[in-house]
Amino acid sequence: MPSHSGLFTVIERAARKAAPRLRRDFNEVQHLQVSRKGPADFVSMADKRAEETLVEELRKARPDWSILAEEGGEIAGDPNKPRFIVDPLDGTSNFLHGIPHFAISIAVEEPMANGKREITTALVYQPLTDESFWAEKGKGAWLQDARLRVSSRRDLADALIATGIPFLGHGNFAQWSRIFGAVAPEVAGIRRLGSAALDLAWVAAGRFDGFWESDLQPWDVAAGMLIVKEAGGFVTDFRGGDRTMERNEFLAANDVLHSKLHKLIANALR
Ligand code: IPD
Ligand code: CA
Ligand code: CA
Repeated sequence: MPSHSGLFTVIERAARKAAPRLRRDFNEVQHLQVSRKGPADFVSMADKRAEETLVEELRKARPDWSILAEEGGEIAGDPNKPRFIVDPLDGTSNFLHGIPHFAISIAVEEPMANGKREITTALVYQPLTDESFWAEKGKGAWLQDARLRVSSRRDLADALIATGIPFLGHGNFAQWSRIFGAVAPEVAGIRRLGSAALDLAWVAAGRFDGFWESDLQPWDVAAGMLIVKEAGGFVTDFRGGDRTMERNEFLAANDVLHSKLHKLIANALR
């Protein structure tokens, strides 16, 4: 195992504590598919329970740190201390429909000397495969104890690209369609797997060659973005700048494909 901080041990322990119940609940969900209302209420309970376990574990280890968690919102802590950013279940629609593709995402955001805040520790944990995609700033990205590198493909024609499609009134479908229209004809394939955290982790692992999506929340992307960067990849907004969170635009890939995708997207949005 590569050397990692005590803080990483804390977040991984929290994820591993929440995982068994999520796995059990996921198995249960498969039996509930046939009921008329479906398993929606059950899944929202599973989601909340997972978050409760995560928050409890993280608070136990770092009682004075803030936590931003999807279900419970912000739990205030010492503003001069780091903050945890937590998505207890990324890929809820998959979980709800019995599709085995979802993850727990936990990031640590630290205050810097320049007054800005930066993500320094990240974990995307996939309970069903027991895969732990993680990174610490300056120490590389890892899958368990194997070093991660973004893919080295250079041709769009070989590239498999992940995206998130706007749905149910979320996001800007017209903009997404313009980008899709520009990218799809140039690449080997487009995938919409339904977990932004895993999309980014998989870009870091070289499974996907790139990813774009907009209208995401900090808990969807905070961990995944650090993992991509530590795996040698680029994550920018659609203009190629670093205002990803402000503009709510995320484009991730290796350097060569990033610049090619960025050109296609810039043209499409002109
Ligand atoms: C969702 C997933 C999905 C993305 C959505 C997110 P959730 O998170 O990350 O891939 O397209 O915008 O809301 O709701 O499953 O935690
Ligand atoms: Ca999410
Ligand atoms: Ca979620």
